[in-house]
Amino acid sequence: MTESARIASGVRDGTVKADLVVTGIGQLCTIHDPELDDQENAGPRRRSGMGELGILENATMAVGAGRVLACGPEHEVLSALYGGAEIPAGVEIVDAGGRAVIPGFVDPHTHTVFGRTRQDEYERRIRGETYLEIAAAGGGIHASVADLRERSEKELVELTTGRLREMLSWGTTTVEIKSGYGLSLDAEMKMLNVAATAAEAVGIRSVRTCLAAHEVPAEFRDRRQEYVRLVTEEILPRVAREGLAERCDVFCEPSVFGLEESLIILTRARDLGLSLTVHADELEPMGGAVLAARLGADSADHLIMIDGPGREALAGSSTVAVMLPGTVFTLGLDRYAPGRGMIDQGCALALASDFNPGSCPILSMPLIMAIACTQMRLTPAESLVGATLNAAWALGKAAEVGSLAPGKMADFIILDGPDYRLVPYRAGHNPVASVFLEGQEINPKPTSTISDDYSREVGK
Ligand code: NIG
Ligand code: FE
Repeated sequence: MTESARIASGVRDGTVKADLVVTGIGQLCTIHDPELDDQENAGPRRRSGMGELGILENATMAVGAGRVLACGPEHEVLSALYGGAEIPAGVEIVDAGGRAVIPGFVDPHTHTVFGRTRQDEYERRIRGETYLEIAAAGGGIHASVADLRERSEKELVELTTGRLREMLSWGTTTVEIKSGYGLSLDAEMKMLNVAATAAEAVGIRSVRTCLAAHEVPAEFRDRRQEYVRLVTEEILPRVAREGLAERCDVFCEPSVFGLEESLIILTRARDLGLSLTVHADELEPMGGAVLAARLGADSADHLIMIDGPGREALAGSSTVAVMLPGTVFTLGLDRYAPGRGMIDQGCALALASDFNPGSCPILSMPLIMAIACTQMRLTPAESLVGATLNAAWALGKAAEVGSLAPGKMADFIILDGPDYRLVPYRAGHNPVASVFLEGQEINPKPTSTISDDYSREVGK
C-alpha cells in the first residue's frame, strides 16, 4: 500500500532543519503504520500487523540531528522543508538510485563477547553427539567460560569489536549483548565492560544484558544454591548499581536453571530495576514462556519446544516471542519454533541471531530472515517486522529504533536492490549497499571475521 508523507512536527515552521536528504528511494519500508503505531496503547505488531511495512514508493527521507524528520513523495517532503526553494547548500544529498531503504536491523539476542570459536563441537554434532551431551562432557558453555576467564579485557575488546563491525556490515544497527561466559562477579563485569567498550568503539547502538544465570559454573556444581545466591546477592546488585546492564536473562531449562531458581533470579532482577528476558523452552518444554509472561518480561526467547499454555500466555501478554532459527539451523535440529502458528494465534514475534560460539555462529540478520521464511513460514514482510520493529519492542527500545517514523533515530540501510523481499530471497548474500547510524554513513564493508584467533586455545 502506498501512503502519503509523514512529517515531524517542527518541520513546517522551520524549528527543526534537515542535514541529510535521501532522494530516489524506489521502495521506502518505513515499518511505520500510524493507525497501528501511533496509538496510545500501541505495542509490538501482531497478526496481520506483522505484515504491515508502511511502504512509500518513489520516496524521499529527510534527516535532522540524527532523527527522521520526514518520509514521503519528494515534492511533499521538500515543500514541507523548504517551501518551493532549492535544497540549501550544506545539506547532504544521497541519491538511492531507485533502491529500497529499510530500517537498520535490531538484533535482540546475542552472546557476542567470547574468546575462541567452537568449530570442534560443530563437527562432533555432525558426527552424532548432541548439544547436551557435549555440554555434559565439559564442552558447551563451560568450555567458553574457561576460555573467557583466561583472556584480558583488551583482547576480548579486540575480538568483540571485529564481530560488531561485521554485524554492522550486515545492517545491524542495534544489538543486544549478553554476559554469561564469566559466571563469577569479576568475569561477568569484565564481559559487560567489554561489551560497552567495543560497542562504543564501533559506534553500534547496544543494549547489555546480564546472563550470569547462563549455567552453574563448575566450581559450584555441588552447591548450586550458593551460586544462585551469588547471582542474586552480589552480581545483579553490582551490575544494576553500576549500570553495567539494563536487563537480566536466565537460561531456564531443566538441565540448567529450573523454574523455581529462575523465578528467584528474575524477581530479584526486577526488584533491582532491571528489565527481564528469558531463554525459555529451548531444548525441553518447562514453562519458561509462561513464567516470562507472568513476570512481564520484555521477551521470551528460543521457544523451540513451547507448549500450548506457553503460546497462550505469550499471545495474551506484551512479552515478545523471540525466535532464533539460526540456532536450530546450526544445531541441525529438525524442529523449528512454531513461528507461523504463533503469529496466527496472536503472539508478537521477533527474530534474533543468538550469535554465540556454540549453537549459532551466524550474525547476519538477512540470513536469519531467510531461515525464518523458509523454515518457519514467515512471509518476507513478517520477517522484516520481526527483525526491526518487533525486535525493538523485545528490547524495550521501540520509541527510538526499529522503524523510520518521524522523530525516531535515522538508523537505516540502503539495500543493493529495489525490493525488500530480495533480503530473505538471496539467502547468504549481503544485501547492504550502505548503512547509516543517526544519519551518518558508516563503513559498510569491514573485513574482519568473527575470530582472528582460531589457533589459540586457552585453558584446553
Ligand atoms: O542461546 N542457550 C543457551 N545459550 C546459548 C548457547 C551458548 C553456547 O553454547 O555457548 C544459546 O543457544
Ligand atoms: Fe542465547
